[in-house]
Amino acid sequence: MNSRPAKFAGYCMSLWMAFGAVAAEAPQPVIHPQRWPELPPALPRDEALEAHVEELLARMSPEQKVGQLIQADIGSITPNDLRHYPLGSILNGGNSAPGDDKLTAPSEWLALADRFYEASIGGAGATVIPALWGTDAVHGHNNIPGATIFPHNIGLGAARDPELIRRIGEITALEVRVTGLDWAFSPTVAVARDARWGRTYESYSENPDVVRQYAVAMVTGLQGAPGTPQFLDAAHVLATPKHFLGDGGTGGKDQGDNLYTEKQLLELDSLGYQAAILAGAQTVMASYSSWRGQKMHGNHALLTDVLKGRFGFEGLVIGDWNGHAQLPGCSATRCAAALNAGIDMFMAPDGWRELLKNTLDQVNAGEIGAARLDDAVRRVLRVKLRAHLDTEGRPSSRPYAGRYELLGSAEHRAVARQAVRESLVLLKNANHLLPLSPAAHVLVAGDGADSIAKQSGGWTIDWQGTEPNQDFPHGESIYAGIARCVSAAGGTPNLSPAGEFSTRPDVAIVVFGESPYAEYAGDVHTLEYSPGDKRDLALLRRLHALDIPVVAVFLSGRPLWVNAELNAADSFVAAWLPGPEGGGVADVLFRAHDGTVQYDFRGTLPFSWPSSPRPPAVDELPGEEPLFGVGYGLTYADDGYLKRLPEVDVPPALPPAPARKRSRGRN
Ligand code: BGC
Ligand code: BGC
Repeated sequence: MNSRPAKFAGYCMSLWMAFGAVAAEAPQPVIHPQRWPELPPALPRDEALEAHVEELLARMSPEQKVGQLIQADIGSITPNDLRHYPLGSILNGGNSAPGDDKLTAPSEWLALADRFYEASIGGAGATVIPALWGTDAVHGHNNIPGATIFPHNIGLGAARDPELIRRIGEITALEVRVTGLDWAFSPTVAVARDARWGRTYESYSENPDVVRQYAVAMVTGLQGAPGTPQFLDAAHVLATPKHFLGDGGTGGKDQGDNLYTEKQLLELDSLGYQAAILAGAQTVMASYSSWRGQKMHGNHALLTDVLKGRFGFEGLVIGDWNGHAQLPGCSATRCAAALNAGIDMFMAPDGWRELLKNTLDQVNAGEIGAARLDDAVRRVLRVKLRAHLDTEGRPSSRPYAGRYELLGSAEHRAVARQAVRESLVLLKNANHLLPLSPAAHVLVAGDGADSIAKQSGGWTIDWQGTEPNQDFPHGESIYAGIARCVSAAGGTPNLSPAGEFSTRPDVAIVVFGESPYAEYAGDVHTLEYSPGDKRDLALLRRLHALDIPVVAVFLSGRPLWVNAELNAADSFVAAWLPGPEGGGVADVLFRAHDGTVQYDFRGTLPFSWPSSPRPPAVDELPGEEPLFGVGYGLTYADDGYLKRLPEVDVPPALPPAPARKRSRGRN
């Protein structure tokens, strides 16, 4: 429990941090590598593979070497280009798809994978090894309509079920393989510490221990366990813990500045990476963010001395989407500094052509040393050989390729639905309103009730996640799941987003919350839910005032200040971003036909729930006292009474403005 003065001090501190003021006395950004743990090798040294790497390296021209270090986006490169420019990798960004058609058939993905593969080994500028294709499979193979899509990481964090996470990774890998791709840019192992950050939902938890366990589970699911025949076999893909390092500690700002001490960086932010590397992760993505004013893409101490030195990481460090361009003196098409700091592969979606030329010039001019160049190329080759890219053959010839029946198969979707059930957290349940009888007249209201996009969030079919229901071939909205369950029991489901009805319902389920967003588009200044639009609250209050029992199902990518909404509902469920398997919600809310409980709640909060619009305190980081702490979550056995909460925010009094001068930016 926080004492008043501590709370007050915390508030001053968070204000101070919120203004982006780097205190003048802040220590210089110095990393002491010897303070970071030395990890044992994740994989035993494979002499034959290393010899193969050397043999390939010896055959490569400087252009082929530089080419291996560049990844282009399929929106800006064609297979024909790859015949002339020997790039090592391609990706599809959140808004890129074959033929620029995000709804295209999975077979088009596989066909394009074949074309890129053949071009990468066939052309005049041919590389000695095929190109890798990476994708943001961050909650299932989420760019492919019809693939299985799981709850976002925040919901998985509520489930506290590492074995489920491993299985999700395994399914995701298999579905990626169906379309011929090799590499998933996941898991995000950020330890988000300020929910104003637009990427909070990509974080499993504010608790580094949960992130650590899940990092192992997800990497193992995606890649297979090191030392087993399954490791990176035809059913698995490369995993990418991201974004190294400290992206969750930037005071709620995407691509912001992390002001932690070195010790906090190590103890909070690095645990997921340590665990992932020990589990065999082969690639790590660098963060857009900074540590104490220095951009991570240029941080030699962390990328090279710590990650590759102390942690013994032998795989490749991929930059983020034009992340190198943000380094001082760099642009999207020229950046020796990133390579010299330890980035091994530039994510250069659109500037790849010029970047190839400029980087080659920099190699020839000695701005990038031969040893660094060869080290980066070795890493890329090593990862490719570990992934069997040299022997696997064309993407469509691989064992699971083209088995489209696996995309969104009943078996896979059952796991997604289980994950939905396990991710729900019950915050209030007055008078044991839940579980409900399905043989009732049920009003389903709120603009989230019948919107698969809203329940799925960003990184779903496209970057910001805006698809209409019909673009989810197997998807079920929360309403559709309720309707199926209630109709089967002889009850009557009634959908009215505005909450209108002609026959008085026995109960109203109001599904509402945040609209989809990704990355910085989701940054907010306040944790107050929907500060400018109180229509959801009005809806809850209207139904409540009519004495209709109200169940609130809250969709959000983060915990938010919802005191008023909590007061206006009899039961309140934090459902996070459950994804297209909406039926999982009804599984938990309703009893079976015979009156027994089918599934109880088992989710617990992965993040502290705010008691004000300001971020709650997290461990040694300052903030206000949370309304509910990490680990909170009711079950049907609990008395779900919740006292009436204050609806007006009374911020702690402001301290007098600090007299000292503020220095901005780099220190
Ligand atoms: C994001 C990464 C993502 C990459 C490729 C970036 O903007 O920060 O998480 O993997 O784009 O889509
Ligand atoms: C891409 C994303 C990427 C983002 C970065 C988008 O256009 O689709 O993959 O993360 O740009 O700003």
